[in-house]
Amino acid sequence: MTAILGISAYYHDSAAALVVDGDIVAAAQEERFTRVKHDQRFPTAAVRYCLAEAGIAASDLDYVVFYEKPLQKFDRLLETYLAFAPRGLRSFSRALPLWLKTKLHIPRLLRRDLGISNNVPIAFVDHHESHAASAFFPSPFRDAAIVTLDGVGEWTTASIGRGDGNRIELLSRIRFPHSLGLLYSAFTYYCGFKVNSGEYKLMGLAPYGKPLYAGTIRKHLIDLKDDGSFRMDMSYFDYPAGLRMTSSKFHELFGGPPRDPESPILQRHMDLAASIQVVTEQAMAKIAARAHELTGSRNLVLAGGVALNCVANGKVFREGPFTNLWVQPAAGDAGGALGAALFVWHQLLGHARTPSPRDAQQGSFLGPRTTNAEVAALFDREGVPAERIDDDGEMMERVVDQLTKENIVGWFQGRMEFGPRALGGRSILGDPRSPRMQAAMNLKVKFRESFRPFAPAVLREHVHEWFDVPAGYESPYMLLVADVLESRRTTLTEEERELMERDPDLRRRVNVARSVIPAVTHVDYSARLQTVDRDRNPRFHALLRTFYEHTGCPVLVNTSFNVRGEPIVCTPADALRCFLATEIDVLVIENFMVRKEAARPLSAEDRRAHLARFELD
Ligand SMILES: [Fe+2]
Repeated sequence: MTAILGISAYYHDSAAALVVDGDIVAAAQEERFTRVKHDQRFPTAAVRYCLAEAGIAASDLDYVVFYEKPLQKFDRLLETYLAFAPRGLRSFSRALPLWLKTKLHIPRLLRRDLGISNNVPIAFVDHHESHAASAFFPSPFRDAAIVTLDGVGEWTTASIGRGDGNRIELLSRIRFPHSLGLLYSAFTYYCGFKVNSGEYKLMGLAPYGKPLYAGTIRKHLIDLKDDGSFRMDMSYFDYPAGLRMTSSKFHELFGGPPRDPESPILQRHMDLAASIQVVTEQAMAKIAARAHELTGSRNLVLAGGVALNCVANGKVFREGPFTNLWVQPAAGDAGGALGAALFVWHQLLGHARTPSPRDAQQGSFLGPRTTNAEVAALFDREGVPAERIDDDGEMMERVVDQLTKENIVGWFQGRMEFGPRALGGRSILGDPRSPRMQAAMNLKVKFRESFRPFAPAVLREHVHEWFDVPAGYESPYMLLVADVLESRRTTLTEEERELMERDPDLRRRVNVARSVIPAVTHVDYSARLQTVDRDRNPRFHALLRTFYEHTGCPVLVNTSFNVRGEPIVCTPADALRCFLATEIDVLVIENFMVRKEAARPLSAEDRRAHLARFELD
């Protein structure tokens, strides 16, 4: 047996992944255990979980691998500082203590934190090689073009590579400070959202705007070359040396200072969001075309934070030269832990790789699970009157009955998802046909006023009857976007059309029903699709199937099981707290069901205290 532990840490979204004899045995983000969103500390709890899942001790590990090369990263910091000196002194001296104390001593810290001896080798894989490995090795393809795109690793910010059998090779790279990820983050920052987490909101804002600034961005900020490379004019940015993303020259170009996070979103911000989205898509299209040229493969795999831009993925795929696409579900830095471990197994140890037709990601259900005994003990301890329903057919009927009454269901089953999306393991579900569902879920459950609709989970066998995709279409990880079919859309009244065009209040616009499944239809009729199949997700599939049999609608609203700013729930206790602190109507954990009327609600004070634990994002 060969056990390889992959680790990503000390930047953003720490994680651990365990690969045993080439199989992905476990993978999880540290935030889920510590309940600190995007926790970047050493993933002690995630490591402990991975080892427990495999039933081994740290001393049984054969290799430990870190997802990047700290010395090279430090080298980039130092060189960037020297290039901009003395301007970057403040940000440099802020970063320095952490580097001296922690990041330069990662091998020693790994040994200390894991309690492993000097005999266990520790490997360091290049940041973008980790991303590339996470995209290719679990994919269903024998060969593929690989594209990685993120903010920055050591020096690389984007790469094109080739995967063939059990090897990957990076063929070309773009180097810091030129970075598509950081360009997108600069607009995220400028539009008043949090860098490294608000990018998804900016993408959701784009359909409300018009890409009026796309020309300006390409004329002044980024020069996209036909060979897929690009250069940025750094006088518009402050990130290499400063503490801000954008410079005053940037602010002048786009007509004012960055938006205050709590101030209203103006049409200008929506137009900026639409513009940077278009430029990102154009850049990705050129990079994909170049990747195709270099590799000649029909298959494309993607990873890196930018690959979470499912709108761009969908477009690149529809318009591009590739026949097949696979995106690593944990496309951000958490996925680097998995990529690094697989890199050691295939590339360094030379083990063969047999791609499985579905992929090797196992639906991304790679995290911890619970047992009915544990759940029973929890409800007992907390005095929660839960009903045990062992017949799964009956359970599905009961849950569907609740859903069709427009009740909101907290749904917890099987293993936790690896990656930022909830895929039916730790989800909150609702009836997408209900015109009030979107507002209800946003205001009473998530405690946010959102301009973004929710994502649809849809039976794969019916996806083409509701969305503009071919029969058998797969998007199991919610990483592609598709349009709601015209036949499912509603005709807007004159008044509604006017509101859609002009109303500055996005919450009013988002509440105009655009289709017969309004809760999951965006203003431009797009939807972030998750296809659900029996193989990857049997119990969730059975629930959707039952819902379909009763309603003729094979779609449910699927949003992550958490409140705003909270990591997705990990344990039954996390789920119970979230259920009690919100207006989720029904909680289902494995074979147990709790209805809100039956449970004793939290006092207003406890509820406030619970919600105050999470910093708003
Ligand atoms: Fe990265």
